[in-house]
Amino acid sequence: MCGIVGYYGQDEASDKIYRGLKKLEYRGYDSAGMATAGNPTIKVEKAVGTVDNVRPEIDGTSGIGHTRWATHGGVTEENAHPHVSQEERVAVVHNGIIENYREIQEEHLEDVDFKSETDTEVIPHLLEKKLENNSITDAIREVIDILEGNYAVSAVLNTGELIAFRKGSPLVLGLTDDEYFIASDVTPFLEHTDQAVFLKDDDYMVIDGDHRIFNDGEEVDREVQKIDWDAEQASKEGYDHFMEKEIREQPKTVKRAAFQDRSDMEEARRMIEEADNVYITGCGTASFAASLGARYLREAGSKVHTEQAHELEYRKDEIKEDDLVIAVSQSGETADLLSLLEEVDSDVLAVVNVVGSTLARQSEHKLYVNAGPEIGVASTKAFTAQLAVLRLISYTLQDRLEEGREKLLDTAEKIDDVLERNKKSVQELSEYLTDKDHVYFIGRNHGYDMAREANLKLKELSYIHAEAFPGGEFKHGTLALVENGTPVVSFLKDDHFEAAYSNMMEAHSRGADIISVGTREVEESKAHISVPEDENAEILEIVPFQMASYLTSVKKGNNPDKPRNLAKSVTVK
Ligand code: BG6
Repeated sequence: MCGIVGYYGQDEASDKIYRGLKKLEYRGYDSAGMATAGNPTIKVEKAVGTVDNVRPEIDGTSGIGHTRWATHGGVTEENAHPHVSQEERVAVVHNGIIENYREIQEEHLEDVDFKSETDTEVIPHLLEKKLENNSITDAIREVIDILEGNYAVSAVLNTGELIAFRKGSPLVLGLTDDEYFIASDVTPFLEHTDQAVFLKDDDYMVIDGDHRIFNDGEEVDREVQKIDWDAEQASKEGYDHFMEKEIREQPKTVKRAAFQDRSDMEEARRMIEEADNVYITGCGTASFAASLGARYLREAGSKVHTEQAHELEYRKDEIKEDDLVIAVSQSGETADLLSLLEEVDSDVLAVVNVVGSTLARQSEHKLYVNAGPEIGVASTKAFTAQLAVLRLISYTLQDRLEEGREKLLDTAEKIDDVLERNKKSVQELSEYLTDKDHVYFIGRNHGYDMAREANLKLKELSYIHAEAFPGGEFKHGTLALVENGTPVVSFLKDDHFEAAYSNMMEAHSRGADIISVGTREVEESKAHISVPEDENAEILEIVPFQMASYLTSVKKGNNPDKPRNLAKSVTVK
């Protein structure tokens, strides 16, 4: 997904936009750009690469900016946003996909000389045409009627007005007494204000010293929400990378996740107990939290199905009105998940981190995991916070809410010790893995989901080929790839230690280097990640692998916060 920032106020827009884009870089970092209404002409600066390549030296007190995660058109300066109309009346930045852009080019813009390969460029040309005979609001409305797909758009006119409209992709307005910020999420303007207005689908807005929001031709009122995140939380706090800071925040964030209102937990319980069937789902790291969540709910006696959202969509007809979907997501904006939820009639219980996100607003009930802003693209503290909330649901179903909350607070207390006691082995593991081309992760039951998440962390951060397998499945084929020195990470969890140990030995006896994880060290392991006994052991087991993956990334000269080709959450399918 891309990142959008807009500014309208008294100060130089380019500086405010540049600072805002820096906060959004985690959303996409192929290229960046900005435009200001330097009346009479619009001024544009854009470049391939990070925001630092864009020089904010253009004047004007209103403007827009963009960080790009390419979908249509290569990573070039021409394809970077903003895109400007032929008469330079309008400049546009966009997050999402205009599905009918080719038809629009043929049916409405046949006389336009397009400068880029992007779908986005149809928007400024359409707006300029519609502004010829319409007011700004009517022109926007006519453009919205033509566009198909999902989009969050901000535009600046050469006369200084700032406009914005959205459908599917997130857009939020930040308000101070005399300034306006438009952004893809709240992080770009947190240093200026905690007053936010989340735009709804089909909302469109004009800012010209005042702000008016419309929907379907009617002016509408949207609630101003106070955001309880502060700018400090969205900064590195002295660490080299957000990822390390977010890993070390987990003793605090797991505790915050455990502090859910009893009434909210009881409502979640009612929804689960009254549902005919329960489906729990997500994408990426959140899908592994969902899969562990399914195990926790089954242990509490619930019948639960789990599958990744983009695949569960092929079973959408199975999900009925009296069923329940538990949707797990850090950002609450992942298109694969939102499109599944659009297809089903069941209620949705959201387990989500970002306040005011589309998932949170569209769900019948939501449990915020309170992890705070997660900037590193690879999810860490949001994962353990998701596990804490899913565990708490399981405890609630067993009438053990308060006891469960105490247990999670205990688990949180142990995280720093787990990092400290494994400091040397994690260092050595990252040095050892840096030269490896293939790594395998195995585990059984909960251990399999841990193997999947640890495997994903290593891949996302180090770009080393890694795969995770159920311990029992490894010998049915993949074992053929094991030879002397092949790293095999084995989660040896107490409740099925023997079976996991024999799977580990199948690999060890073919020359694998064993990295074991668990409460018991085994003599065959080359390295051991030690965790204390704990009912919520998964929360403790993943943290050393987050750190090992982080250190391997740094050792390999990668950027742990912005792994290549990835984005914090993907708002296109
Ligand atoms: C990916 C992120 O794009 O989306 C992952 O890089 C994340 O870290 C996945 O797990 C799902 O995102 P979300 O926001 O729905 O949890």
